[in-house]
Order: sequence, then structure tokens, then C-alpha cells
Amino acid sequence: MTRQILVTSALPYANGHIHLGHLVEYIQTDIFVRFQRMRGHKVGFMCADDTHGTAIMIRAEKEGTTPEKMIAEMSESHQRDFAAFGISFDHYGSTNSDANRAVGEGIWQKLLDQDLVAEKAVPRLFDNQKQMFLADRFVKGTCPKCQTPDQYGDACEKCGTAYSATELIDPKSVFTDTTPELKESQQFFVKLEPMQEMLTEWTQNSGALQTEVANYLLGYFLGKPLQDWDVSRPAPYFGFEIPNQPGNYWYVWFDAPCGYIASTVEWCAKTGDNADNWWRNENTEIVHFLGKDITYFHTLFWPAMLHAAGYNKPKRVHIHGFLQINGEKMSKSRGTFINASRYLELLDPDWLRYYYASKLSNKIDDLDFHSEEFVGKVNSDLVGRVVNLASRSAKFVATTGLSKQYPDDGGLFAKAADMSDTIAAAYESCDYREAMRLIMTCADAANEYVDQKTPWTLRKDPDKAQELQDVCTVVLNLFHQIAVYLTPVLPTLAKKTAALLGDDITSWSQASTPLVGRDIAKFQHMMTRVEAAKVDEMFTPEEVAPSSPTLEKEPLAAEITIDEFQKIDLRVAEILAANEVPEARKLLQLTLGLGGDVTRNVFAGIKGAYEPDKLVGRLVVMVANLKPRKMKFGMSEGMVAAAGTDGEVYLLSPDSGAVPGQRLH
Ligand code: MSP
Ligand code: ZN
Repeated sequence: MTRQILVTSALPYANGHIHLGHLVEYIQTDIFVRFQRMRGHKVGFMCADDTHGTAIMIRAEKEGTTPEKMIAEMSESHQRDFAAFGISFDHYGSTNSDANRAVGEGIWQKLLDQDLVAEKAVPRLFDNQKQMFLADRFVKGTCPKCQTPDQYGDACEKCGTAYSATELIDPKSVFTDTTPELKESQQFFVKLEPMQEMLTEWTQNSGALQTEVANYLLGYFLGKPLQDWDVSRPAPYFGFEIPNQPGNYWYVWFDAPCGYIASTVEWCAKTGDNADNWWRNENTEIVHFLGKDITYFHTLFWPAMLHAAGYNKPKRVHIHGFLQINGEKMSKSRGTFINASRYLELLDPDWLRYYYASKLSNKIDDLDFHSEEFVGKVNSDLVGRVVNLASRSAKFVATTGLSKQYPDDGGLFAKAADMSDTIAAAYESCDYREAMRLIMTCADAANEYVDQKTPWTLRKDPDKAQELQDVCTVVLNLFHQIAVYLTPVLPTLAKKTAALLGDDITSWSQASTPLVGRDIAKFQHMMTRVEAAKVDEMFTPEEVAPSSPTLEKEPLAAEITIDEFQKIDLRVAEILAANEVPEARKLLQLTLGLGGDVTRNVFAGIKGAYEPDKLVGRLVVMVANLKPRKMKFGMSEGMVAAAGTDGEVYLLSPDSGAVPGQRLH
């Protein structure tokens, strides 16, 4: 039976780039989607950028741009990264779209109709100087839990505690640095308690959630009164204004998941379909993939919104753990916060797809990117056990092609074909680790066969040409079978396999029918081995060459020794007199005093930059032992220290207290 499955990944925030942690999710979802497509199901894979909220406003302000410009650039960057990793979205939208506003308004109206919106006055922080309420991110103060200073009003970056801005110790407005005061503000809430029964039933009995997740919700939220959910924020806020409530905006988490539906609406507009066929059709399976940090948005709030608005509730919410790097949390300072683009500079995206697949199960444990394991899995599993099958056999049948009939292989092909359902079940349950393990057992059997038959020796004996062709036909078929099983994970390898054997891989069932009597294309290199050094390089923070436009104009001079420096006798001097030199374009004549009655006559190139009268009495620095030079206008007995050139000249002055004649050391 053909299923209709709408699959989503969580919508990445538009205030940052895609990194290796995000990719755990997008790769995991993409594998599921590609698997379902190969099974012949009708799939829609939806995603979008999550664009609203204060974090975006702040970043845009910091970068001197507008939120609109920033989200446009970020969307492009996100989509470029996703494409490079082979993430095959059917549509990629934005939550800042007309379609999304319409979806949000539709759900809002349904909530109002069913009396599920409460309006309450709540105390919020108000900046008196700016005359505005402060959204969470516009307040900073000390964490009420761990006392770390300088934390935002929603959560502590140090200890991870979430709190409301009013709980911050010593809160300060980020705009004025003044202490905000508490002021009542009319806010809107979604009532969840009336949906308690529905939520309990759905989370506990529908099979939509992993057991751990269902238990967690039961332990922490359900069974006691569900608090109303605060879904409005006062202006200024980058988001959608609530209909008929000027100055009040939906909190970003209200309209963010609406983006799943809005993307479907935009996709359907392109394909001539109708989004209700997906979202209001009980024969559609809605499947959300997301990380454990955003569990309750997707397992309490979102199903409540969907339910109230008459949409399907998710058939499945698949939650995964967090990526760690070599056993530790990703960290900017340790150089382990790796952006997708950085990975792509050094490594092949298919390696990461395979590596993640080999680690992902249907549990929500965190997973670790471990450098040596990464290198080992790619080099020994993927290149050593899989790709080598093709590279060791294809060349021997380059001219003859595959045998007309599938030869006797001792039951190897049939055995691997029998695993089709088991492997499919592992993909279906998102236990990719198990799927990879099963597939590698097929690869092991195939390699054993190669080692027994040694095609490279058969080849030397002209009488064994038929046997050679048969052996290679078997090996290439076993390879092809594995490539089919790996297609959800390694679409690029599948393409190269298809090119070699002249048979596009589109369906799971292709793993059950051997290919015979066909030509073989010239063998093209399929996958290289990882160099461990490249992985290390990725984790080595890039040296950013310091740059200075000023130094570029005038590079630093060649090095000198301290002795050489000390030959220059720099002295504090007082300008006793300053006069115009009418014939000179740049020069002023200065009489410099070095204490007592010792004076020097100096011509300095500071005309135009300083008025002679104003110079008299000020202290400067002079090179006092410069050989006197005869100039057109008289002797110059030294030099005055100044920065800059022509027109833009700045005299150096000692701090107060220095006296004429003192030497600089
Ligand atoms: N914008 C929200 C989701 C809104 S969905 C309606 C968000 N964005 S995010 O950019 O922070 O994260 C996007 C997804 O990536 C989330 O599912 C999140 O859990 C996941 N991950 C972000 N960092 C991750 C790791 N370090 N490891 C694994 N997944 C991670 O949350
Ligand atoms: Zn804290």
C-alpha cells in the first residue's frame, strides 16, 4: 500500500549558520525520506528558516543590518549547506512569509472560537527611558540559579536554566543600561488544560513518541494542571502582530511550527496539490524529526494547536540526542563548533552521512563525533569493505560485461535479498545503526567470496575467462545490492554505481533482482579514503591573519636591534617659537627648547595641520641627534615626531609632567 508521508526537520534559526550538530538532524531526516521514496511512498519533505524573535533583531542590530536582509542572506547560506550535504527538501520556506502569517491567523482564530485564548495582565519589565516593554533578550542580569552575571532574560548560558526575565537578579535594559521596572502588560495565553485529556492520550497511547519521551512528559507535565502558555510579546518584536491586537506579537514559538504547514502550502501551490490533502487528511502520516531540546514545543504546544485547528496530529515525533565532539560539548573556544561550510572545505559530505547513520539509533542519547572512529568507519567500512568490491572486480569485466545468466554464488545474493525486510524495518524505525550493521554483514560475505575466488589470479589464465566473468558478475551484483541498501544514506555512491552498471537506483526492490547480460561502463573512482590529518585540521581553529589597512598602506620597516634603536636620541622639547615659511608649501619653522638655554632650529612638515600661534608652549618629541641638514631656508637641526602624512599630520606630545630635555627610553 502506498503511504502518504509528510516529513519535517525542525526549522533552523536564521540567526546562525548550519553546524555539525544541526546536520545530525537534517541527515537523519533525509535518510528517512530517501528510504520512504525508494519504498514507493508519496513523500513531502518540508523545512524552512525560523526567522522571528529577538535573537535575530539583536544580531541584525549588531551587524548594522535589518532582520529582513539578514534572514534573506541566512536562508541562502542554509540552503547552500543543505544542498551540499544532499538534503533533499521538497520545499524550503521561511516563517516570515505570507503563507505562514495566514496559517498562524487560521490557527489563532480557531483557538479564539473555542475559547482557548486567555488574556491576562502580567508584570513585565519596562524600560522607562525608552518607554517600552522589554522582550526576554532585551534584558540582561544575573542568573537567579547560578549567579552568573550578564545573562539574557530567558535562560542562562552557563547553567542552562530557563527562567522568566522578571526573575533575573539586577536586571538591566540592553538599550539604556537602566534598571527596568515592573509594569502590567496585557498578554495572550493559550489554555492547555482543556486539552489535557487529548494530550495524555496522544502522548501515551498513540505510538507517536519514543517510550523515553512519553515517560518524560508524563513525569513532568501531564497529570497536573497544564499551565497556560504565554504566546504574545509586546512590541518591538520581529514577528507577526496578533490580529486586532496592535502592539502585541506572537511569540516566535507560536508561528515557528506553523512554518511546517506554510511550507506545504507553498509547495502545493507549485505542484498543483492542496495542503489540506496533507494536513487535514487522516491518511497522511505527519512525521517530525527534532532534537531533544525542543521536545515540549512539539509534544505539547504544537499538537494542541493542531488539534484545536482541526489539523492532523503527528503520527510520529522522532527525537534525537545532541552531538558532542570527541566526548565534549561543542564549543567555540575549543574549536569544536564546526560549521557545515568548514567541514565541506576539508571533507566529503558522504562520509558524514555514513558516519552519522552508523551511530544513530532510535534512542535519544547524545552521540559523539569521535575523530578516530570517523576515520576508521569511513576507511575500513565504506572504502575497505564496500567500495573495494567494485574496484576489485569491475575492471575484469570492462570488455565482456556481465554474464548472461546469474551464476551460482552459493546462495549469497539470495541470502542478502532475504535481509531486505529486516534492513527496511531498521530504516523505518530510524535505527540506522542496525541497518548499517546488517548491510556490513552482506559486505563481509561478499569480501569473503572475493578472497576465495581471487579474480586477479583467474585473470592470468585464458582458460578461465568464463569463470572470471561469472565471479565478477557475482561480486558486482553483491556490490550493487549493498549500494541499493545504502542509497538512502549515500545517494552519491548510488549514482556512481548506477553509472557503472547502467541502471538507475530508484527502488528498494532492486536489491532483490540480479543484473545480467549488460555492459559495464568504464570504472570511475567512487570514494576516497579520509586522511586523519584533514579531520584534525578541521578542529584546528583557522588562523585568521590579522589585517590592518594602515599597515597595508605603509608596511613595517625591517627589524633593528636595540642597540641600533638607542643610537636615536629622542628628547622632549618645548616649542618656543613657530613661524610661517612663506616660500615653503609644507614647512613651519620651529624653535625647540631642550631646557635651559639650549635650543634647536627645526623645519617641520606640519604647515596646514597646525596654526603656528597655537603651537607655542606645547611639548613635542624630537630626534635630537640627527645630523644638521642645510635646507633652502636655513639649517634644520633635528626632526619633530609626528604621525601621518601630508595634511593629516599629528604631533606626538608627552603626558603632562615631562620636561624639556628628557630622553625617551
Ligand atoms: N528554530 C528552532 C526549531 C523550530 S521548529 C518549529 C530551533 N532551531 S535550531 O537551529 O536551534 O535547531 C534546529 C534543530 O537542530 C533542532 O531540532 C535542534 O535540536 C537541532 N540541533 C541543534 N544543535 C544540535 C546539536 N548540537 N546536536 C544535535 N542536534 C542539534 O531549535
Ligand atoms: Zn545560571
